Amino acid sequence: MTDWWKKSVVYQVYPQSFKDTSGNGIGDLNGIKAKLPYLAKLGIDVIWLNPIYQSPLIDNGYDISDYYQINPIYGTMTDFEALLQAAHDLGIKIIMDLVVNHTSDQHQWFKQSKQSKDNEFSDFYIWKDPNLDGTPPTDWGSTFGGSAWEYVESRNQYYLHLFAKEQPDLNWENPKVRQAVYHMMDSWFLKGVDGFRMDVISLISKRQDWPQALPDAVYTKSYYVGASNGPRVHEFLQEMNAEVLSKYEVMTVGETANTSSEQAILYTDPNRHELDMIFHFDHMHLDYGKYGKFSDIRYKMSDLRTVMTEWQDKLEDKGWNSLYWSNHDQPRTVTRFGNDGRYRVESAKMLATLLHMMKGTPYIFQGEEIGMRNVPFESLNQYQDIETKAMIDEMRQAGESEAYIKKVVYLKSRDNARTPIAWTSGGNFGFTEGKPWIDFSPDNELINVESTLEDPQSVFYHYQKLIALRKSHEVIVEGLYELINPHDSAVYGYTRSLNDEKLVVICSFSAYKVNYQVTDELVGAKLLLSNYTDSEVELAEQIELKPYEALIYLKE
Ligand code: NOJ
Repeated sequence: MTDWWKKSVVYQVYPQSFKDTSGNGIGDLNGIKAKLPYLAKLGIDVIWLNPIYQSPLIDNGYDISDYYQINPIYGTMTDFEALLQAAHDLGIKIIMDLVVNHTSDQHQWFKQSKQSKDNEFSDFYIWKDPNLDGTPPTDWGSTFGGSAWEYVESRNQYYLHLFAKEQPDLNWENPKVRQAVYHMMDSWFLKGVDGFRMDVISLISKRQDWPQALPDAVYTKSYYVGASNGPRVHEFLQEMNAEVLSKYEVMTVGETANTSSEQAILYTDPNRHELDMIFHFDHMHLDYGKYGKFSDIRYKMSDLRTVMTEWQDKLEDKGWNSLYWSNHDQPRTVTRFGNDGRYRVESAKMLATLLHMMKGTPYIFQGEEIGMRNVPFESLNQYQDIETKAMIDEMRQAGESEAYIKKVVYLKSRDNARTPIAWTSGGNFGFTEGKPWIDFSPDNELINVESTLEDPQSVFYHYQKLIALRKSHEVIVEGLYELINPHDSAVYGYTRSLNDEKLVVICSFSAYKVNYQVTDELVGAKLLLSNYTDSEVELAEQIELKPYEALIYLKE
């Protein structure tokens, strides 16, 4: 069965922050292994592991210095193999992060590449002569601030880095680079891994005419003009598919910033033999401001509904959606899209319901299943993340007030997703015996796995039920998505249809009671799941929804 991933639910583990068994304050592979029964209880099918390879950790592992080695802070290759085996024994697959747009500047390839213009690895990276006045070849900014080009004296050239200067971009035009990547992928597949999440894969092909940035581009993304969905990206992925992916029954999900639903079809149409699905960012962009993600704008439900519906509609029968609210680069779901105060539990369950009943493969980011919310750090000095630090600098230089900076960093920093999971309610919260690599969230006494598991009405058990429903109802996997009441100001409703079955999903985004009306055709549908204990068991024409109420009905 080659499309097993269509029926799967993926759980993303951010290894640094999951569970430490060695006492170094950093989560590790043995910690993940120890918690597999917890994940099995939740019911997930696949774990996506953020990078665990050898790395100087300038960007928490997205700067890889050796693709074949495990970073010793997480354990050994033997530990990895034991984890993979233990997961497989429980019927859980593991996909790895494939970070091949760039390496670390400490990778052997780069160390040699930068030495001269005529060594074996000279063309492994993107080197360009300076302009006549010594300036870089283009005016592109890098994601983490400053120019995307860094000068190296030994070659009298600049190299390209779309991310930190310690993350030089690989030159995919060079067939030897591609072969080296394919070889490495093969070695992980031969070990038994079940797929890859491909980091910024839409950026690997650069325009060879090296255009200047568009005048209105946000500086830190101004390289998009020459790097996003570039001229050869589909050719490269088709080659990768032919040479590697097609040999294995694995899943792939490409991270594709700046990619429209039309372009998504090019990546995910099964007839094109590229990727199984992609992560798009259209719903992430709904609250962007002048500093991109770092803004205090609140999204509008109607915009969210438009975006989600567009992706459901466009990919119907032509591609496949990945469904996510959050990951290690995004703030916490319930803070961003729900109500993390009085209705934290209700709104976390509502958001889970809305997403998990859609067509596509759902992803749960660690901690989402216990309703973790953004982290109210006291001081800006507590943030560790390279992107957050760069953004704090940029906003300070732009003259923003400290209060404003603190607010938007609290709302959007990647560190919101990166504080350790609290397994228990006290001490070091069962995460470590040592000092955690990043401060704990002050919320841990309230929001932790132990108390969540003790409460039958917790967010965890709602996720567990949603996952179980996907397994027992084919309509959730295959059914056609159709929006209902597209103009309702507070409620997002849709149906999924397969043969004679219709699933009805009704989710309120309001903190107040609201009325909702459904068409005759749906009246009488039977309740499958709700986030309240006293919801109507049969769908009536007129209903009154409680705050953040989420209802799933089935009409057969
Ligand atoms: C996307 C990853 O998710 C993010 O964490 C990382 O900083 C960049 N790509 C660069 O690899």
